Amino acid sequence: MAEPLRIALAGLGTVGAGVIRLLEVNRELITRRAGREIRVVAVSARDRTKDRGVDLSGFAWEDDMTRMAARADVDVVVELVGGSDGPALTLARNAIREGKALVTANKAMIAHHGLSLAQAAEEASVPLKFEAAVAGGIPVIKGLREGAAANVIERIYGILNGTCNYILSTMEDTGRDFADVLAEAQGLGYAEADPTFDIEGTDAAHKLAILAAIAFGTKLDFAHVDTTGISALRAADIAQAETLGYVIRLIGMAEPDISGDGTGLFQRVQPYLVPEGHPLAHVDGATNAVVAEGNFAGRLLFQGAGAGDGPTASAVVADLIDIARLWESEGEIDPPFSMPVADLKALAPAESGHRSGRRYIRFAVTDRPGVLAEITAAMRDAGVSIESMIQKGRQEEGGEVLVAIVTHDGPESCVTEALRLLENSPSLTASPLVMQLLAT
Ligand code: NAP
Ligand code: HSE
Repeated sequence: MAEPLRIALAGLGTVGAGVIRLLEVNRELITRRAGREIRVVAVSARDRTKDRGVDLSGFAWEDDMTRMAARADVDVVVELVGGSDGPALTLARNAIREGKALVTANKAMIAHHGLSLAQAAEEASVPLKFEAAVAGGIPVIKGLREGAAANVIERIYGILNGTCNYILSTMEDTGRDFADVLAEAQGLGYAEADPTFDIEGTDAAHKLAILAAIAFGTKLDFAHVDTTGISALRAADIAQAETLGYVIRLIGMAEPDISGDGTGLFQRVQPYLVPEGHPLAHVDGATNAVVAEGNFAGRLLFQGAGAGDGPTASAVVADLIDIARLWESEGEIDPPFSMPVADLKALAPAESGHRSGRRYIRFAVTDRPGVLAEITAAMRDAGVSIESMIQKGRQEEGGEVLVAIVTHDGPESCVTEALRLLENSPSLTASPLVMQLLAT
């Protein structure tokens, strides 16, 4: 059997400890599949004394993780620390410069620096792999790069954040409070170190930008993902969506979009109303699901656990097995984004004003005579056609009520104009919330 593939592992939190456990539990099978042993030789984290539930006694400890790349006894650096910059990025750059393969679960780093890291990896002929960075345990990057490689992918969308999906589906099922369910998701190891990355949609936007680059062969463009999270949602929105036959899910959606000025890249993360008949309406808990529409394969649905130690470790170790099987040092590598960085097309961000669709608009207003007339007049003046409207009774005279409107199909620019007309209205007690209705 070939020489072991020697690993330095930085980060021993949820994912790092999961990787050590998985390599231990499935050792024999992994060795047969990889054609050689995958052996951890060195580890690093901040606190050497912390009990992580795994035996670290056989590994060298590095206090400064950025130095792991320089170790002569290491073939692959696995970065499971997190953060788009800082020590994680230093380690990643060092690893590639030192001729080591790099495996990471760090979507923030790949979303911000993926192209420069990929270019460096191509120049150095070292593998750079990041399956665990998108949708946890689901092999969606491999599915797109390999299984769907013959297709033009026309659109890609899905549920890309386990924490938000856990919060939304648990609130829907139990009526529990947002903060309480978020704390539970943190306890289960789903959330980012800073959970605002989850609930404000940033984490889903990181993943969407990575997927879009791979799916469409375009330059990764995280800066232009139009991102809205779930923090403005109220329990009443979830209840009203249910009354209308929908559930609310945080959806990332990307597609090349042909408008008047040529093709642009449309990328958006936003809470959507998903009709109960749509497969994504039944994706609950920390599960993720990605739909890719290929011009020959048709609609492909990838679904599975999107966060947590086991599923994420599964994706990390799958990357290691690929490297163990296929990479000879100094040999050819697969380009990290499935084609060389130089061949990825640069698309300008697409305008969204012409995009047609139905929408849910929720207004929080002071309950007084004329409020509904004011809202409907703005809709009329902006050319927004109303399909239905719900106003629930107020708690107290002159208090706040929620008015929810579902529109007919129409361009987004009309809704934007209606909201502009209402911008300075003294009747509004909070900013209106707009959600797209996902078509079946
Ligand atoms: P985590 O539980 O917070 O673990 C982070 C680890 O990094 C800890 O062991 C920490 O050390 C170590 N660390 C932090 N700063 C360090 C530094 N300056 N030097 C050395 N070590 C440092 O995070 P995680 O959930 O495992 O996530 C790790 C990465 O995987 C992130 O990029 C995350 O986005 C990604 N990811 C996570 C999941 C998930 O479900 N959790 C899923 C997919 C991808 P101490 O333990 O000593 O504090
Ligand atoms: N915080 C992320 C999530 C982890 O909740 O989806 C998986 O990437």
